[in-house]
Amino acid sequence: MVDLRAQYEKIGPEIDAAIKSVLGSTAFIKGPDVKLFEEELQDYMGVKHVISCANGTDALYLAMMALGLKPGDEVITTNFTFIATIEAVALLGLKPVIVDPDPKTFNISVNEVKKAITPRTKVIVPVHLFGQCADMESLIEIALKHNLFIIEDGAQATGADYIFRDGTVKKAGTIGHIGTTSFFPSKNLGCYGDGGALYTNDDVYDRKLRSIANHGMKVRYHYDDIGINSRLDTIQAAILRVKLRYLSQFNAARRAVADQYDEAFAGCYSVTIPERAVYSSHIFHQYTLRIKNGKRDELKKFLDSNNIPSMIYYPGPLHLQEAYRNLGYNESDFPVTTALCKEVLSLPMHPDMEQEQVDHIVRKVLEFFDK
Ligand SMILES: Cc1ncc(COP(=O)(O)O)c(C=O)c1O
Repeated sequence: MVDLRAQYEKIGPEIDAAIKSVLGSTAFIKGPDVKLFEEELQDYMGVKHVISCANGTDALYLAMMALGLKPGDEVITTNFTFIATIEAVALLGLKPVIVDPDPKTFNISVNEVKKAITPRTKVIVPVHLFGQCADMESLIEIALKHNLFIIEDGAQATGADYIFRDGTVKKAGTIGHIGTTSFFPSKNLGCYGDGGALYTNDDVYDRKLRSIANHGMKVRYHYDDIGINSRLDTIQAAILRVKLRYLSQFNAARRAVADQYDEAFAGCYSVTIPERAVYSSHIFHQYTLRIKNGKRDELKKFLDSNNIPSMIYYPGPLHLQEAYRNLGYNESDFPVTTALCKEVLSLPMHPDMEQEQVDHIVRKVLEFFDK
């Protein structure tokens, strides 16, 4: 699905030099590269503060902690996402309220959010799924009307642009009160281990987030907040500084592959190509087709037998996971998520795909439907 080796072969000397320099300095925790990476990512994202942390799950956890929420407060998010999005909510004793996504963009449905609001709702967590922004402007309208926080889960969309109706452009993750991201190796901006970050334009949240990511400590050995230990280590920061320089180029390369997939499959009656929303650029963390007529699993097997990897993101809705049974949802509560889980298939997608590979994948998918 991704080819981290091919990428390393291209930028290897720069990565090796970055790692070596940290080894030489022995500043493994909070070394200079961490601050430099935060500053460089701030510039790239056009945001006032970047707070690095240990991974994207912690970033969500820290964001919820910083908002001072109370047990039982409700947090609305999408049913069609990676489990981390609701883990933080549940761990903090908040109540995850999950809603169906829009069937075309796969992102949280604005209408379903409206229906889910109660007097206990405090936060909306849009996930910019597969590399495309959720409909932020409509969500902001809801949030303003009901006095809610917005935490953007931008783990899959580092570098995607949101385009407001007046033409203003902002990066995914920098629009809500706090945004989060993950640097898991396969992400669009991935390190060589675990890593994550938070974004905010608010000085108060910035101070709070830095404190709780560091044991609640603003002044050494004085603890103002109950915190955790969540740090991006210096080696990962040094690697990310190198990879950030290539991010725009890598995202453009993904888009070029997606353009070819789109063109090849647009006329294929049995598949629906991913919708590109007018209000967002798409950086194709995943290229995800909907396969009609119950043929998804058969297509996956056919691709497997031709040595073409493919993945199902996501095979099961959140509301049916054993750990979240206590939320009390019924099996039939989320028809869109349930349908998507049966129909979606993600094809190989990364910036280092050779033309031959793209052609081969396209040929085999079309061959399957011609049979
Ligand atoms: C949408 C989403 N949110 C959160 C995360 C969690 O990130 P991490 O794996 O860095 O904890 C991921 C990563 O897989 C993700 O895809």
